[in-house]
Amino acid sequence: MLFSNTAAFAEQMDREDPLAPFRKKFLVPQHNGVQSVYLLGNSLGLQPASVKDYIGKILDDWAAHGVESFFDAKEPWMDYHDQLTGPLATIVGAHKDEIAVMNQLSVNLHLMLVSFYRPDKKRFRIICEAKAFPSDQYVFETHVRSLGLDPAQTIVEVTPAEGEDIIRTSDILDTIKKYGDETALVLFSGINYYTGQVFDMAAISKAAKAAGCRVGFDLAHAAGNIELKLHEWEVDFACWCNYKYLNSGPGAIGAVFIHRHNHDDSLQRFAGWWGYDKPTRFRMEKGFRPMAGAEGWQLSTPALLLYATCRASLEIFEEAGWENIQAKRKKLTAYTWFLLDELARDNGRDTMRFITPAAPEAHGSQVSVLMARRGRETYEALMKQQVMVDWREPNVIRFAPVPLYNSYSDVYRLVSALRNLTQ
Ligand SMILES: Cc1ncc(COP(=O)(O)O)c(C=O)c1O
Repeated sequence: MLFSNTAAFAEQMDREDPLAPFRKKFLVPQHNGVQSVYLLGNSLGLQPASVKDYIGKILDDWAAHGVESFFDAKEPWMDYHDQLTGPLATIVGAHKDEIAVMNQLSVNLHLMLVSFYRPDKKRFRIICEAKAFPSDQYVFETHVRSLGLDPAQTIVEVTPAEGEDIIRTSDILDTIKKYGDETALVLFSGINYYTGQVFDMAAISKAAKAAGCRVGFDLAHAAGNIELKLHEWEVDFACWCNYKYLNSGPGAIGAVFIHRHNHDDSLQRFAGWWGYDKPTRFRMEKGFRPMAGAEGWQLSTPALLLYATCRASLEIFEEAGWENIQAKRKKLTAYTWFLLDELARDNGRDTMRFITPAAPEAHGSQVSVLMARRGRETYEALMKQQVMVDWREPNVIRFAPVPLYNSYSDVYRLVSALRNLTQ
């Protein structure tokens, strides 16, 4: 597609955008009555305007029926999560019974390690990316230590080659080949939070399986952002938060994917009563018998108020259609990269380095820019102009135009502001 670097062109793209009306379904931050350019979907997605209604319905049921809402509400709480697992399955490329909506991401990572990281004398290593999100690093470190192992001897981190920002797929595959016999689990993010690099999950999963390892992904930055085919790729498990691209609010309920090929009772797990066989759960009997499917990993009473925010958002995804969202995401990011490339060419490519890979299949919505100078000032000036982006030490500005509520004009405004501030 041919793009042009003018405001009129961006406005024309907005007029032709079939998803443009969806912006109204979100509460875009405003300043003096003017909407900000909100490019922080990689951090906290915007609030769907319908969230209050969805929460209100739960509160109304609670008021009207008390605990009987589990069975007597118009939409009984007992089955409320069924409204979430289907849309999430579409988004991550899974079957509905492979999804459970529960807890939060770091908690779920620990729970998944209980089931899928079972080190023995021969296979004990975890292969992961260097500089994974800190919470993941702390999860790996403390989990490994809790099993009596030394993190330094156990965790193998794949790093970028000397002088490079992103990790080459060939280096990941070579590491799996090298340590495969000693590795219990290969665990990467789907998209690295800092660089925005999309990992080749199909290739990693295939290589891990061929080496006899389990494989999992942290999809915090991938779920709701890029196309995923978790079932087809034979990924053992994945976890993600729903507050970034899935707009379910701060501290939103998290979710897990557990492949059907793991749906048997042979895996160890940390259990709670909400994972117990549903038809007989309330007999309250001794001896844990899991529900079939990923929901057998649930522990606690469902967090209905959090389910409600997630549902408000997922209904917008359903209405817009996942394929349409992907089509716009690709167009919007292609346009973003077109404008950024012009800017880098005009400014001198060494002044701002786009550490996110430019190849369309190697990035999602996020772009991370390493500023050679005046990075912090540039970030602060953008924020002052109501162009909302984020800052990561020591010198990176990240932004993520997302298809459901960002426009082509938002992107034009961002890159024009960057141009004014950096020339
Ligand atoms: C890649 C990644 N993993 C883990 C986390 C931690 O998630 P939570 O705070 O929901 O446990 C985040 C949070 O932003 C993240 O980006």
